[in-house]
Amino acid sequence: MTFALEGVGLDLGGRPVLRDLTFSVAPGERVVLLGVNGTGKTTLLKALDGLVFPSAGRIAYHGVPLEAPRLEEPAFRRRFRAEVGLLFQNVDAMLFNPTVADEIAFGPRQLGLPGVEERVERWAETFGVTPFLDRPPFELSGGEKKRVALAAVLSVEPRVLLLDEPTASLDPASAAHLVDLLAGLAGTTVVVSTQNLSVAEELGRRALLLAPGRPGLLHDGPSDALVADERLLVESGLAHRHAHRHGAAAHAHYHVHDAE
Ligand SMILES: Nc1ncnc2c1ncn2[C@@H]1O[C@H](COP(=O)(O)OP(=O)(O)OP(=O)(O)O)[C@@H](O)[C@H]1O
Ligand SMILES: [Mg+2]
Repeated sequence: MTFALEGVGLDLGGRPVLRDLTFSVAPGERVVLLGVNGTGKTTLLKALDGLVFPSAGRIAYHGVPLEAPRLEEPAFRRRFRAEVGLLFQNVDAMLFNPTVADEIAFGPRQLGLPGVEERVERWAETFGVTPFLDRPPFELSGGEKKRVALAAVLSVEPRVLLLDEPTASLDPASAAHLVDLLAGLAGTTVVVSTQNLSVAEELGRRALLLAPGRPGLLHDGPSDALVADERLLVESGLAHRHAHRHGAAAHAHYHVHDAE
């Protein structure tokens, strides 16, 4: 298993954020992670990336427990960082290089990967950021920064992609392009969070649902079944009963909002 979680609990600032999570992600699987604000999607993705550690239970990566001392071992650390890439929800926390070109080259250089120039060219082209290669990332628009951050994560060509709301702040064409690109990455394991129910099914056939104040997963199964399950969507807060007007007729019905 790429990831195996057993009874994972994680506290931050003395408060429980994740509770009693047990699931596995198989190599090559695409999993979409859903849940309203504050349910711990970002925390879970950071835990899968070995940036925060469970307070209870364990997370294993190909059978190796993801624990601080293991990640301090140079050989494991290098392998893990080469194999697993995380796109931060807040890309401003990721971008720190003087130019976009350096940003995309950073990962491959750090890991001593071959063909750095070629990787920069290819991934800049893929995400349409070639015109910005010489500019400082902090000058770019939100969506442009997101595309640079995606190019920076993908230039390492990780076997496992952890993507935290990758389509948020992308324009519709860029979001569609990203969905297509991910669909075409055969063999890559992807765990991706989103608030956008209309792309959830395209991002992953399997969906995991976190719900506020609830331990465990409210759903671990096909994403099409989740998206069609009004009761579950309402229970988890992803859909809500909503009164509004269509012309002169006021009425109420269940309603899903796409957040992006
Ligand atoms: N460093 C921290 N210290 C204390 N609490 C934290 C910290 N980071 C996150 N939290 C809390 O953990 C909970 C989960 O946060 P997280 O960012 O993982 O949620 P999320 O599902 O990604 O939300 P969103 O949809 O807004 O991105 C929140 O209630 C948040 O306040
Ligand atoms: Mg988040």
